Amino acid sequence: MIPKIKGTQDFLDLGLLQFVIKQTSDHLNLHNFNQIELPILESADLFKRTVGTETDIVNKEMFIIEPRVGSNETICLRPEATAQTMRAFLEHNIQVLPWKVFSYGAMFRYERPQRGRYRQFQQCNIEIISTDDINQDVLLIGMLDSLFSTKLQITNYALSLNFLGCPEDRINFREKLTNFLQANLEICETCQKRATTNPLRIFDCKNETCQKIYVTAPKIVDHLCEECNVEWKQLQNHLELLGVSFAIKPDLVRGLDYYNKTVFEFTSPDLGAQSSFCGGGRYELATQLGHKTAVPSIGAAFGMDRILIILETIQDRLPIKPKPALTVILPLEPKYNMLALLVAQNLSQHTITNDIILEDSSIKSKMRKANKLGPIHCVLIGENEQATNSVTLKNMVTGNERLVKQTKLVEALKG
Ligand code: HAM
Repeated sequence: MIPKIKGTQDFLDLGLLQFVIKQTSDHLNLHNFNQIELPILESADLFKRTVGTETDIVNKEMFIIEPRVGSNETICLRPEATAQTMRAFLEHNIQVLPWKVFSYGAMFRYERPQRGRYRQFQQCNIEIISTDDINQDVLLIGMLDSLFSTKLQITNYALSLNFLGCPEDRINFREKLTNFLQANLEICETCQKRATTNPLRIFDCKNETCQKIYVTAPKIVDHLCEECNVEWKQLQNHLELLGVSFAIKPDLVRGLDYYNKTVFEFTSPDLGAQSSFCGGGRYELATQLGHKTAVPSIGAAFGMDRILIILETIQDRLPIKPKPALTVILPLEPKYNMLALLVAQNLSQHTITNDIILEDSSIKSKMRKANKLGPIHCVLIGENEQATNSVTLKNMVTGNERLVKQTKLVEALKG
């Protein structure tokens, strides 16, 4: 027995996942987002240049594929979809702007697996590429909020919001934060390292002593330039006018380095330690990928695996499409198998979901097999049925049996 790889999952019943995908796709289409599909394999450099070499995702969690002999290209399994969506935008020279797209797919991060955290997980990724209008941020966050609350009927969640300012704001803030950190020598070793490489990330630290110290740390929203301050106020004001509830979280910085200005996260207490099920923000990646001009953008991604965990407890209340009623065809002996195949072909042509018991065994064992499939009707075919061009139609709920002409079977089942 070779078991599945650590941190991966098998999905054997797709009912809930298909519900989430259908509701999400309908909702995004309604807002004029187009679905795209991008490769699982990408150049590792793409993520080094965008997500950042100081982030856990790039530093510790990448699934790298050994370069082939004679090749100097390092390929990886994608850890996220924003950088590659930007890559696709530039590579295809998209002209209808802003480019509003979404995609579903597997992402890979070598993390320590636990409930809600996997090494292969699925995301729905949404981007609005090439727009610097703060109202696009309002639109995206409002659209996600209505998707979660109305379409997916998640009741127990919170939205946290922060504003990281423009790159100049962050350079100025970095200095203030570094001064603060230098005056607080009790911070942990990781934070001391981050204080020099990437000070904003100290806010992600789970160490209790560090967290206590950071309560009094300077907050970036108090050090924004005039333009950013106007945008930050407008973002809050317009979300309130749309009826979107949020909490300002000054220490929300997110684990990817590409964000500026708006950052946000949706969390649910139903998820335990891995409470964030959707995260996103504003970014500019085009120049980092060698493009001459900046392409300001905003996007978000939510983890399908985490959404499924949240919905599992309420799935009985959700309008999940029931499986269609099943008809099982049961040839009583192998010599009636051909007739059974013809009956099955006819039922499929009339969109009646069906299955056939073709294995050669006793009638009792065939009946037991048929029962396990949970059919509403069974169609029995034996000597009498073949001789009279009919079948025996058995209602598995009432137990009633009747002889029906083969030409009238569809009518009888649909009736
Ligand atoms: P992220 O916060 O790294 O953002 O991931 C987004 C979501 O993916 C998380 O909120 C979580 O639901 C899910 N997720 C992440 N890691 C795992 C894991 N190991 N196991 C299960 N689920 C996980 C991004 O990926 C950004 N690209 C989002 C974005 C799009 N920003 C702008 N546009």
